[in-house]
Amino acid sequence: MQQDALKVEGISCGYGRAMILNSLSLEIKQSQCVAMLGKNGMGKSTLLKALCGFLPKKQGEVYIEGKRVTHYKPHRIARLNLAYAAQEQAIFTELTVKENLSLALAHPDTFDQVFIPVGHLFPVFKERLSQKAGTLSGGEQKMLLVARCLIQRPDIIFLDEITEGLQPSVIDRIAEALDWERRSHGTAMFIIEQNIGFALRVSDRYLILKQGRIVDSGDSKAEGAAKKVYGYLTV
Ligand SMILES: Nc1ncnc2c1ncn2[C@@H]1O[C@H](COP(=O)(O)OP(=O)(O)OP(=O)(O)O)[C@@H](O)[C@H]1O
Ligand SMILES: [Mg+2]
Repeated sequence: MQQDALKVEGISCGYGRAMILNSLSLEIKQSQCVAMLGKNGMGKSTLLKALCGFLPKKQGEVYIEGKRVTHYKPHRIARLNLAYAAQEQAIFTELTVKENLSLALAHPDTFDQVFIPVGHLFPVFKERLSQKAGTLSGGEQKMLLVARCLIQRPDIIFLDEITEGLQPSVIDRIAEALDWERRSHGTAMFIIEQNIGFALRVSDRYLILKQGRIVDSGDSKAEGAAKKVYGYLTV
């Protein structure tokens, strides 16, 4: 039987004595995209930080591609084939677009080859490889973060509110890029979102996080899913 791309079993963690996540469990199957939604401050980013080794777990286990990584430090997680775009993550403004993208590559000399599909998905970068990334617009910088995740050719991608502050056309482009990535490579994805339309469009399942617990979940394409999720984010 194939291993889950991600399996979280009853993790609890927080900052100091404040527990933010309470015995939280979830699974992401191979090639599956799961979206987690929740209001501000519910613990969504804390969960990704914990999965990526930035926070110690008080209890529970984390498995990535079947490997137990519960107590791995961030640098060991980074060596797994996982791409993570953190919510507060900036691109490296002093580096060029190409240098930012190349950071994701174990062998930078493969750049021209691996850039071909990414250049199709985000044509804006084709003419701008030597431009300083700090001079890109906010939306272009978010696209660069997604492009960097894709160019890594990861087994699993974590995106933390990648659509925050973006106009609809840029959100569409990112959704198309993620759809392409899944169709082409079957990459598993864990998407943290507050944009309900985007989240349900790109995912197979949704999870609702409330005060550090998953309080509901469902099929993203089920009738009424958007209304149900909207209820959790507004009440
Ligand atoms: N470094 C920290 N030290 C102490 N408390 C923190 C720290 N980071 C986050 N918190 C607290 O943990 C709780 C969850 O924060 P988190 O950033 O995970 O929320 P979130 O669901 O990602 O919210 P948002 O949608 O606003 O990004 C909040 O109450 C926050 O104040
Ligand atoms: Mg957050």
